[in-house]
Amino acid sequence: MSVQDVVIGLAGLGTVGSGLVTLLRDNATEIERRTGKRIIVKYVAVRDVTIKRDIPEHTKLIDNPLLMVEDPEIQVIVELMGGLGIAHTLIKEALLHGKSVVTANKALLAEKGEELFALAEEKNLSLAYEASVAGGIPIVQTLKDSLAGNKIKTVTGILNGTSNYILSQMSVNGTNFDEALKSAQELGFAEADPTLDIDGFDAAHKLKLLIRLAWGVHYPYEKLSVQGIRNMNAMDINFAHSLGYTIKLLGQTAQVNGEIEAGVSPYLVPEKAMLARVDGAFNAIHINGNAVGSLFLHGIGAGSLPTASAVLGDIMSLVKDIYDSTGYVMEKLPLAPMVNPEIMESPWYLRLMVHDTVGVLRDIAGLFAKQGISISQVIQKKKQEDGVPLVFMTYETSMKAMKQALHEMENSNILISKPVAYRVLEV
Ligand code: HSE
Repeated sequence: MSVQDVVIGLAGLGTVGSGLVTLLRDNATEIERRTGKRIIVKYVAVRDVTIKRDIPEHTKLIDNPLLMVEDPEIQVIVELMGGLGIAHTLIKEALLHGKSVVTANKALLAEKGEELFALAEEKNLSLAYEASVAGGIPIVQTLKDSLAGNKIKTVTGILNGTSNYILSQMSVNGTNFDEALKSAQELGFAEADPTLDIDGFDAAHKLKLLIRLAWGVHYPYEKLSVQGIRNMNAMDINFAHSLGYTIKLLGQTAQVNGEIEAGVSPYLVPEKAMLARVDGAFNAIHINGNAVGSLFLHGIGAGSLPTASAVLGDIMSLVKDIYDSTGYVMEKLPLAPMVNPEIMESPWYLRLMVHDTVGVLRDIAGLFAKQGISISQVIQKKKQEDGVPLVFMTYETSMKAMKQALHEMENSNILISKPVAYRVLEV
């Protein structure tokens, strides 16, 4: 077999970049056998070129990634720096200079991707991003190609390992929120800015890309309804547990009567559902397609080698294949017909702290009835220092009705502290 060289440039040598360098070295023989190509990393762009790095001897360390786009020998640029600044300029310039790009930059693709995907398609180049959603889980390829013969009905995922780790630690070990976050950071899968993780934005970045892949529509990232786990209280994790549920931060999207429902928020997930059993920093995605039925992918959603595995897969498939970004034959995706998150219906879990006095339950039931909210279960828990917890499970209710009922409760003297309300996943 004659082996051709493919010359690439790598921007970023952090967790994922170093993982890629390791895989290119350790799996070189398999890579050549599968692609017929030898992948040569000509440049690695890093912030500080004075630090000694574990890179191949022939590789040049540079501090300006844009230098790579001018080099005619470079065929593919791999962007693993992250962020919306230089990474954006680099990808744009790479495409303008006729080079395909592989990236793991979910924030950039979710917030500014449409322009970049359009440019790639206009130039007949690749902008590959398997590593951007759920790290090592091959979900991009799965939705783009393997499930292309389906009408996708729902995609539901645990898309942020940090939040899932925190919720698991709180639920299984009784760790408090701050300690759990600190240990997630020490383990190295939290974002540099952990608010992206705990406020749900990282999951929302990934959800935006999943919607694009599932239905070939552009759902503007800023229109997504996003709630994270910042204020998660161990009390609700325990109440949910006693009702047979586990609390998970989910990215959830469905096509209902031709419109797209989508959002990120904590959900009560029935303990029998596979999503409820996804522990620690793992990610998982449940897909429902009209042909394939129910499909569940589970794996490591962050970290060095798992994410590098997805990056390398993209590099390998594009050095031998023609590529397009979403699997739909069109230059610009139509705007998604979006369902207003306020009218999306689901059952809800609601936990209120109230005074232990006569008539409280009657008043709350009255406010629910006024909004047409039907209650499926009520539990009164043991009195605590700060009041009596009342837990309600409702039937299908819109966020609008729930918000209005909560607003009226907060304006009356019924509640001692802020109510907690989460959607319940129906499986
Ligand atoms: N911070 C992300 C997570 C890393 O916790 O899942 C992978 O995108």
